[in-house]
Amino acid sequence: MPKRKQLVSQTPIQNGGVVGVREFAPPYRVNGTPSENKLRFIDLFCGIGGFRMAFEGAGAQCVFSSDWDKFSRQTYAANFGETPHGDIHSVAVADIPKFDILCGGFPCQPFSLAGVSKKNSLGRKHGFEDVKQGNLFFSIAGILDHHNPPAFVLENVKHLVRHDHGRTFKIIHDTLTEALGYQVYWKIINADSVVPQRRQRIFLVGFKPGRAFEFPDFSTEGPKLASILDPDVADKYTLTDHLWKYLQNYAKKHQAAGNGFGFGLVTGSDVARTLSARYHKDGSEILISQGPLKNPRRLTPRECAKLMGYPDDFKIIVSDTQAYRQFGNSVVVPVIERIAKAVVTTLQRPIGYRPDLVLSANDKLNEEAAKGVAVAVSYRKTPIKKRKPTGKAL
Ligand SMILES: C[S@@+](CC[C@H](N)C(=O)[O-])C[C@H]1O[C@@H](n2cnc3c(N)ncnc32)[C@H](O)[C@@H]1O
Repeated sequence: MPKRKQLVSQTPIQNGGVVGVREFAPPYRVNGTPSENKLRFIDLFCGIGGFRMAFEGAGAQCVFSSDWDKFSRQTYAANFGETPHGDIHSVAVADIPKFDILCGGFPCQPFSLAGVSKKNSLGRKHGFEDVKQGNLFFSIAGILDHHNPPAFVLENVKHLVRHDHGRTFKIIHDTLTEALGYQVYWKIINADSVVPQRRQRIFLVGFKPGRAFEFPDFSTEGPKLASILDPDVADKYTLTDHLWKYLQNYAKKHQAAGNGFGFGLVTGSDVARTLSARYHKDGSEILISQGPLKNPRRLTPRECAKLMGYPDDFKIIVSDTQAYRQFGNSVVVPVIERIAKAVVTTLQRPIGYRPDLVLSANDKLNEEAAKGVAVAVSYRKTPIKKRKPTGKAL
Protein backbone atom coordinates (compact mmCIF):
# COMPACT_ATOMS: atom_id res chain seq x y z
CA MET A 1 0.00 0.00 0.00
CA PRO A 2 1.39 3.44 -0.87
CA LYS A 3 2.29 5.58 2.09
CA ARG A 4 -0.20 8.32 2.99
CA LYS A 5 0.95 11.83 2.38
CA GLN A 6 1.99 13.41 5.64
CA LEU A 7 0.27 16.59 6.58
CA VAL A 8 2.45 17.34 9.55
CA SER A 9 6.06 18.18 8.96
CA GLN A 10 8.27 15.75 10.86
CA THR A 11 11.37 17.82 10.53
CA PRO A 12 11.99 20.75 12.78
CA ILE A 13 11.78 23.98 10.87
CA GLN A 14 14.54 26.41 11.36
CA ASN A 15 12.87 29.79 11.48
CA GLY A 16 15.32 32.50 12.38
CA GLY A 17 16.61 30.35 15.19
CA VAL A 18 13.13 29.39 16.38
CA VAL A 19 12.92 25.65 16.03
CA GLY A 20 9.59 23.94 16.05
CA VAL A 21 7.40 21.37 14.38
CA ARG A 22 4.42 22.87 12.66
CA GLU A 23 1.67 21.93 10.32
CA PHE A 24 2.08 23.03 6.73
CA ALA A 25 5.59 24.35 6.95
CA PRO A 26 5.69 27.91 5.71
CA PRO A 27 8.21 28.58 2.99
CA TYR A 28 9.94 31.31 4.96
CA ARG A 29 13.65 30.75 5.11
CA VAL A 30 16.50 32.67 6.56
CA ASN A 31 19.14 33.43 3.98
CA GLY A 32 22.08 31.42 5.32
CA THR A 33 22.37 30.32 8.90
CA PRO A 34 21.00 32.80 11.41
CA SER A 35 23.90 34.30 13.26
CA GLU A 36 23.82 34.51 17.02
CA ASN A 37 26.05 37.56 16.98
CA LYS A 38 24.17 39.72 14.54
CA LEU A 39 21.09 41.82 15.02
CA ARG A 40 18.31 40.52 12.80
CA PHE A 41 15.95 42.63 10.79
CA ILE A 42 12.92 42.12 8.58
CA ASP A 43 12.50 44.05 5.35
CA LEU A 44 8.81 44.83 4.82
CA PHE A 45 7.52 46.45 1.61
CA CYS A 46 11.09 45.88 0.61
CA GLY A 47 10.92 47.06 -3.01
CA ILE A 48 14.41 46.58 -4.39
CA GLY A 49 16.10 46.36 -1.01
CA GLY A 50 17.26 49.86 -0.06
CA PHE A 51 16.76 49.09 3.63
CA ARG A 52 18.43 45.72 3.26
CA MET A 53 21.54 47.14 1.68
CA ALA A 54 21.89 49.70 4.46
CA PHE A 55 21.19 47.40 7.40
CA GLU A 56 23.45 44.66 6.06
CA GLY A 57 26.12 47.35 5.73
CA ALA A 58 25.58 48.16 9.41
CA GLY A 59 26.27 44.52 10.29
CA ALA A 60 22.70 43.26 10.70
CA GLN A 61 21.21 40.16 9.08
CA CYS A 62 18.00 40.06 7.07
CA VAL A 63 15.75 37.17 8.12
CA PHE A 64 12.57 37.95 6.18
CA SER A 65 11.48 40.16 3.30
CA SER A 66 8.17 40.85 1.61
CA ASP A 67 6.93 42.72 -1.46
CA TRP A 68 4.16 41.78 -3.82
CA ASP A 69 5.46 43.54 -6.92
CA LYS A 70 6.67 40.96 -9.43
CA PHE A 71 9.38 43.13 -10.97
CA SER A 72 10.73 44.50 -7.69
CA ARG A 73 11.02 40.92 -6.48
CA GLN A 74 13.08 40.09 -9.57
CA THR A 75 15.48 42.96 -8.92
CA TYR A 76 15.67 42.03 -5.23
CA ALA A 77 16.43 38.39 -6.07
CA ALA A 78 19.12 39.38 -8.58
CA ASN A 79 20.87 41.52 -5.97
CA PHE A 80 20.31 39.64 -2.73
CA GLY A 81 19.92 36.04 -3.91
CA GLU A 82 16.50 35.71 -2.29
CA THR A 83 12.99 36.32 -3.60
CA PRO A 84 10.86 38.24 -1.11
CA HIS A 85 7.59 36.78 0.08
CA GLY A 86 4.47 38.26 -1.50
CA ASP A 87 1.42 40.10 -0.19
CA ILE A 88 1.95 40.92 3.47
CA HIS A 89 -1.67 39.99 4.16
CA SER A 90 -0.92 36.43 3.08
CA VAL A 91 1.82 36.04 5.68
CA ALA A 92 0.87 34.57 9.04
CA VAL A 93 2.39 36.97 11.53
CA ALA A 94 3.50 34.15 13.82
CA ASP A 95 5.45 32.57 10.96
CA ILE A 96 7.75 35.55 10.54
CA PRO A 97 11.10 34.56 12.07
CA LYS A 98 12.30 36.12 15.29
CA PHE A 99 13.90 39.52 14.68
CA ASP A 100 15.28 42.62 16.41
CA ILE A 101 14.48 45.44 13.99
CA LEU A 102 11.43 45.90 11.78
CA CYS A 103 12.21 47.98 8.67
CA GLY A 104 9.45 49.23 6.44
CA GLY A 105 8.99 51.97 3.89
CA PHE A 106 5.28 51.34 3.87
CA PRO A 107 3.36 52.47 0.79
CA CYS A 108 2.15 56.02 0.82
CA GLN A 109 -1.26 54.98 -0.42
CA PRO A 110 -3.98 57.45 0.47
CA PHE A 111 -4.74 57.04 4.13
CA SER A 112 -8.39 56.72 4.85
CA LEU A 113 -8.22 56.71 8.58
CA ALA A 114 -10.31 59.75 9.23
CA GLY A 115 -13.17 57.69 10.52
CA VAL A 116 -11.06 55.50 12.70
CA SER A 117 -11.69 56.38 16.28
CA LYS A 118 -8.89 56.46 18.78
CA LYS A 119 -10.84 53.97 20.83
CA ASN A 120 -10.56 51.44 18.06
CA SER A 121 -6.84 51.77 17.52
CA LEU A 122 -5.88 52.03 21.17
CA GLY A 123 -6.84 50.30 24.32
CA ARG A 124 -7.38 46.78 23.13
CA LYS A 125 -4.22 44.78 22.75
CA HIS A 126 -5.40 42.94 19.68
CA GLY A 127 -7.65 45.64 18.39
CA PHE A 128 -5.97 46.04 15.05
CA GLU A 129 -8.52 43.78 13.42
CA ASP A 130 -11.11 46.54 13.65
CA VAL A 131 -9.15 49.09 11.73
CA LYS A 132 -7.08 46.97 9.41
CA GLN A 133 -9.23 47.65 6.37
CA GLY A 134 -6.31 46.93 4.16
CA ASN A 135 -4.26 49.77 5.57
CA LEU A 136 -0.69 48.63 5.55
CA PHE A 137 0.38 50.55 8.61
CA PHE A 138 -1.81 48.20 10.60
CA SER A 139 0.01 45.20 9.12
CA ILE A 140 3.18 46.70 10.56
CA ALA A 141 1.48 47.38 13.88
CA GLY A 142 0.18 43.80 14.00
CA ILE A 143 3.68 42.42 13.44
CA LEU A 144 5.13 44.71 16.13
CA ASP A 145 2.35 43.70 18.47
CA HIS A 146 3.02 40.00 18.00
CA HIS A 147 6.82 39.98 17.89
CA ASN A 148 7.56 42.84 20.24
CA PRO A 149 11.00 43.61 18.72
CA PRO A 150 13.31 46.08 20.48
CA ALA A 151 13.35 48.50 17.51
CA PHE A 152 11.76 49.59 14.26
CA VAL A 153 12.54 52.05 11.46
CA LEU A 154 9.67 53.28 9.29
CA GLU A 155 9.80 55.59 6.30
CA ASN A 156 7.11 57.50 4.47
CA VAL A 157 6.44 60.66 2.51
CA LYS A 158 6.87 63.91 4.39
CA HIS A 159 3.21 64.73 3.78
CA LEU A 160 2.23 61.96 6.20
CA VAL A 161 2.55 64.49 9.05
CA ARG A 162 -0.02 66.82 7.54
CA HIS A 163 -2.39 64.29 6.00
CA ASP A 164 -6.00 64.69 7.14
CA HIS A 165 -5.02 67.70 9.28
CA GLY A 166 -2.51 65.65 11.24
CA ARG A 167 -5.03 63.01 12.29
CA THR A 168 -3.42 60.19 10.30
CA PHE A 169 -0.03 60.82 11.84
CA LYS A 170 -1.53 61.10 15.29
CA ILE A 171 -3.15 57.69 14.96
CA ILE A 172 0.12 56.20 13.75
CA HIS A 173 2.10 57.88 16.52
CA ASP A 174 -0.41 56.98 19.22
CA THR A 175 -0.54 53.38 18.03
CA LEU A 176 3.24 53.06 18.18
CA THR A 177 3.62 54.80 21.52
CA GLU A 178 0.49 54.38 23.62
CA ALA A 179 -0.86 51.12 22.21
CA LEU A 180 2.42 49.34 21.47
CA GLY A 181 4.63 50.96 24.10
CA TYR A 182 7.54 52.22 21.99
CA GLN A 183 9.57 55.35 22.59
CA VAL A 184 9.33 56.99 19.18
CA TYR A 185 11.65 59.52 17.54
CA TRP A 186 10.72 61.05 14.21
CA LYS A 187 12.32 63.44 11.81
CA ILE A 188 11.88 64.74 8.29
CA ILE A 189 15.17 64.27 6.47
CA ASN A 190 16.18 65.75 3.13
CA ALA A 191 18.49 63.43 1.18
CA ASP A 192 20.22 66.33 -0.55
CA SER A 193 23.17 66.23 1.83
CA VAL A 194 24.14 62.77 0.58
CA VAL A 195 22.85 62.64 -3.02
CA PRO A 196 22.18 65.39 -5.60
CA GLN A 197 18.41 65.15 -5.09
CA ARG A 198 15.96 67.06 -2.91
CA ARG A 199 13.94 64.26 -1.37
CA GLN A 200 12.24 64.80 1.95
CA ARG A 201 10.98 61.80 3.81
CA ILE A 202 9.73 61.20 7.31
CA PHE A 203 11.50 58.59 9.44
CA LEU A 204 10.09 57.09 12.60
CA VAL A 205 12.47 55.16 14.82
CA GLY A 206 11.14 53.34 17.87
CA PHE A 207 12.65 51.48 20.80
CA LYS A 208 11.16 49.24 23.44
CA PRO A 209 12.33 49.59 26.15
CA GLY A 210 12.97 53.26 25.44
CA ARG A 211 16.53 54.32 24.67
CA ALA A 212 18.35 57.59 24.07
CA PHE A 213 18.63 58.09 20.32
CA GLU A 214 19.61 60.91 18.04
CA PHE A 215 19.12 61.03 14.30
CA PRO A 216 22.38 61.42 12.40
CA ASP A 217 23.24 64.85 11.04
CA PHE A 218 22.12 65.62 7.50
CA SER A 219 22.83 69.33 7.48
CA THR A 220 25.97 69.47 5.33
CA GLU A 221 25.87 70.54 1.71
CA GLY A 222 25.73 67.59 -0.64
CA PRO A 223 26.99 66.70 -4.12
CA LYS A 224 25.78 68.14 -7.41
CA LEU A 225 24.28 66.26 -10.35
CA ALA A 226 27.61 66.22 -12.24
CA SER A 227 28.73 63.54 -9.78
CA ILE A 228 26.16 61.06 -11.11
CA LEU A 229 25.77 62.01 -14.79
CA ASP A 230 27.23 59.67 -17.40
CA PRO A 231 29.20 61.25 -20.23
CA ASP A 232 27.88 58.90 -22.92
CA VAL A 233 24.15 58.40 -22.98
CA ALA A 234 22.16 56.63 -25.72
CA ASP A 235 20.02 58.86 -27.96
CA LYS A 236 16.82 57.12 -26.85
CA TYR A 237 16.95 59.13 -23.61
CA THR A 238 16.75 62.46 -25.48
CA LEU A 239 13.18 63.83 -25.56
CA THR A 240 11.43 63.75 -28.93
CA ASP A 241 10.51 67.16 -30.43
CA HIS A 242 6.86 66.28 -29.83
CA LEU A 243 7.26 65.55 -26.10
CA TRP A 244 9.57 68.51 -25.48
CA LYS A 245 7.10 70.88 -27.16
CA TYR A 246 4.23 69.36 -25.19
CA LEU A 247 6.04 69.84 -21.86
CA GLN A 248 6.93 73.44 -22.67
CA ASN A 249 3.34 74.26 -23.65
CA TYR A 250 2.01 72.51 -20.58
CA ALA A 251 4.33 74.52 -18.34
CA LYS A 252 3.34 77.79 -20.04
CA LYS A 253 -0.35 77.03 -19.59
CA HIS A 254 0.10 76.39 -15.89
CA GLN A 255 2.37 79.37 -15.37
CA ALA A 256 -0.33 81.57 -16.91
CA ALA A 257 -2.83 80.10 -14.47
CA GLY A 258 -0.46 80.84 -11.58
CA ASN A 259 0.37 77.20 -10.89
CA GLY A 260 3.83 75.91 -10.18
CA PHE A 261 3.57 72.84 -12.41
CA GLY A 262 6.26 72.41 -14.98
CA PHE A 263 9.37 70.53 -15.88
CA GLY A 264 12.63 70.63 -13.95
CA LEU A 265 15.41 71.45 -16.38
CA VAL A 266 18.81 71.03 -14.72
CA THR A 267 22.52 70.91 -15.44
CA GLY A 268 25.43 69.18 -13.72
CA SER A 269 25.80 72.05 -11.26
CA ASP A 270 22.26 71.65 -9.93
CA VAL A 271 20.47 69.37 -7.51
CA ALA A 272 17.52 67.38 -8.91
CA ARG A 273 13.92 67.49 -7.80
CA THR A 274 12.46 64.36 -6.21
CA LEU A 275 12.57 61.35 -8.53
CA SER A 276 9.06 59.93 -8.65
CA ALA A 277 7.73 56.49 -9.52
CA ARG A 278 6.11 58.03 -12.60
CA TYR A 279 9.40 59.31 -14.05
CA HIS A 280 9.04 56.77 -16.87
CA LYS A 281 6.02 58.67 -18.20
CA ASP A 282 7.70 61.85 -19.42
CA GLY A 283 10.69 62.39 -17.15
CA SER A 284 9.48 65.94 -16.63
CA GLU A 285 10.64 66.39 -13.03
CA ILE A 286 14.31 65.88 -13.91
CA LEU A 287 15.36 66.83 -17.43
CA ILE A 288 19.06 67.13 -18.16
CA SER A 289 19.94 70.09 -20.37
CA GLN A 290 22.03 69.21 -23.40
CA GLY A 291 22.61 72.79 -24.51
CA PRO A 292 20.61 75.03 -26.85
CA LEU A 293 21.02 72.83 -29.92
CA LYS A 294 19.60 69.62 -28.52
CA ASN A 295 16.44 68.68 -26.64
CA PRO A 296 16.98 67.76 -23.00
CA ARG A 297 17.22 64.14 -21.95
CA ARG A 298 15.97 61.97 -19.12
CA LEU A 299 18.23 60.32 -16.64
CA THR A 300 19.11 56.75 -17.53
CA PRO A 301 18.07 54.01 -15.08
CA ARG A 302 21.74 53.68 -14.04
CA GLU A 303 21.88 57.41 -13.27
CA CYS A 304 18.64 57.02 -11.27
CA ALA A 305 20.31 54.22 -9.29
CA LYS A 306 23.16 56.60 -8.44
CA LEU A 307 20.72 59.39 -7.65
CA MET A 308 19.20 57.07 -5.03
CA GLY A 309 22.64 56.16 -3.68
CA TYR A 310 22.82 52.59 -5.00
CA PRO A 311 26.31 51.26 -5.72
CA ASP A 312 27.56 50.97 -9.30
CA ASP A 313 27.39 47.17 -9.21
CA PHE A 314 23.70 47.12 -8.28
CA LYS A 315 22.08 44.87 -10.90
CA ILE A 316 19.32 46.38 -13.04
CA ILE A 317 17.67 43.45 -14.80
CA VAL A 318 14.24 44.87 -15.62
CA SER A 319 12.92 47.15 -18.39
CA ASP A 320 13.62 50.90 -18.21
CA THR A 321 9.98 51.51 -17.24
CA GLN A 322 10.16 49.12 -14.30
CA ALA A 323 13.60 50.38 -13.27
CA TYR A 324 12.35 54.00 -13.14
CA ARG A 325 9.36 52.89 -11.04
CA GLN A 326 11.58 50.93 -8.69
CA PHE A 327 14.12 53.69 -8.09
CA GLY A 328 11.37 56.32 -7.83
CA ASN A 329 9.76 54.26 -5.06
CA SER A 330 12.98 53.50 -3.26
CA VAL A 331 14.68 54.93 -0.24
CA VAL A 332 17.98 56.79 -0.60
CA VAL A 333 20.45 54.15 0.53
CA PRO A 334 23.08 56.41 2.21
CA VAL A 335 20.32 58.06 4.27
CA ILE A 336 19.22 54.67 5.57
CA GLU A 337 22.87 53.64 6.04
CA ARG A 338 23.42 56.44 8.55
CA ILE A 339 20.15 55.74 10.34
CA ALA A 340 20.91 52.00 10.38
CA LYS A 341 24.31 52.59 11.99
CA ALA A 342 22.75 54.85 14.62
CA VAL A 343 20.01 52.29 15.38
CA VAL A 344 22.45 49.35 15.57
CA THR A 345 24.82 51.34 17.81
CA THR A 346 21.90 52.33 20.04
CA LEU A 347 20.73 48.72 20.38
CA GLN A 348 24.25 47.54 21.22
CA ARG A 349 24.51 49.93 24.16
CA PRO A 350 23.27 48.88 27.57
CA ILE A 351 19.67 49.80 28.28
CA GLY A 352 19.65 53.02 30.26
CA TYR A 353 22.76 54.36 28.51
CA ARG A 354 22.66 58.14 28.50
CA PRO A 355 25.10 59.98 26.26
CA ASP A 356 24.80 63.09 28.43
CA LEU A 357 26.05 61.18 31.48
CA VAL A 358 28.97 59.73 29.58
CA LEU A 359 29.91 63.16 28.27
CA SER A 360 29.80 64.47 31.78
CA ALA A 361 32.02 61.63 32.99
CA ASN A 362 34.45 62.27 30.15
CA ASP A 363 34.62 65.96 31.03
CA LYS A 364 35.52 65.07 34.58
CA LEU A 365 38.20 62.62 33.42
CA ASN A 366 39.71 65.20 31.09
CA GLU A 367 39.76 67.83 33.82
CA GLU A 368 41.49 65.52 36.25
CA ALA A 369 43.85 64.16 33.60
CA ALA A 370 44.92 67.73 32.89
CA LYS A 371 45.76 68.10 36.59
CA GLY A 372 47.63 64.78 36.52
CA VAL A 373 45.28 63.18 39.06
CA ALA A 374 43.81 59.69 38.78
CA VAL A 375 40.20 59.70 39.97
CA ALA A 376 37.17 57.51 40.15
CA VAL A 377 34.58 59.02 37.87
CA SER A 378 31.22 59.88 39.34
CA TYR A 379 28.20 60.90 37.36
CA ARG A 380 26.96 64.46 37.39
CA LYS A 381 24.58 65.16 40.23
CA THR A 382 22.90 68.25 38.85
CA PRO A 383 19.68 67.51 37.00
CA ILE A 384 20.11 67.00 33.30
CA LYS A 385 18.31 69.41 31.04
CA LYS A 386 15.52 67.73 29.12
CA ARG A 387 16.47 67.31 25.48
CA LYS A 388 14.37 69.04 22.89
CA PRO A 389 12.20 66.49 21.10
CA THR A 390 13.13 66.06 17.45
CA GLY A 391 9.59 66.17 16.18
CA LYS A 392 6.73 68.39 17.12
CA ALA A 393 4.81 67.36 20.17
CA LEU A 394 1.48 65.94 19.24
C1 LIG B 1 7.35 52.90 -1.20
S1 LIG B 1 7.71 51.31 -1.82
C2 LIG B 1 9.05 50.80 -0.79
C3 LIG B 1 10.34 50.70 -1.51
C4 LIG B 1 11.51 50.19 -0.71
N1 LIG B 1 11.64 50.82 0.57
C5 LIG B 1 12.81 50.32 -1.50
O1 LIG B 1 13.79 50.83 -0.98
O2 LIG B 1 12.84 49.92 -2.66
C6 LIG B 1 6.36 50.37 -1.21
C7 LIG B 1 6.39 48.91 -1.64
O3 LIG B 1 5.32 48.23 -1.00
C8 LIG B 1 4.91 47.17 -1.85
N2 LIG B 1 3.56 46.73 -1.42
C9 LIG B 1 2.39 47.40 -1.51
N3 LIG B 1 1.38 46.68 -0.99
C10 LIG B 1 1.94 45.51 -0.54
C11 LIG B 1 1.41 44.36 0.10
N4 LIG B 1 0.11 44.25 0.39
N5 LIG B 1 2.26 43.37 0.42
C12 LIG B 1 3.59 43.45 0.14
N6 LIG B 1 4.13 44.52 -0.49
C13 LIG B 1 3.32 45.54 -0.82
C14 LIG B 1 4.95 47.80 -3.23
O4 LIG B 1 5.06 46.80 -4.23
C15 LIG B 1 6.20 48.68 -3.13
O5 LIG B 1 7.34 48.05 -3.65
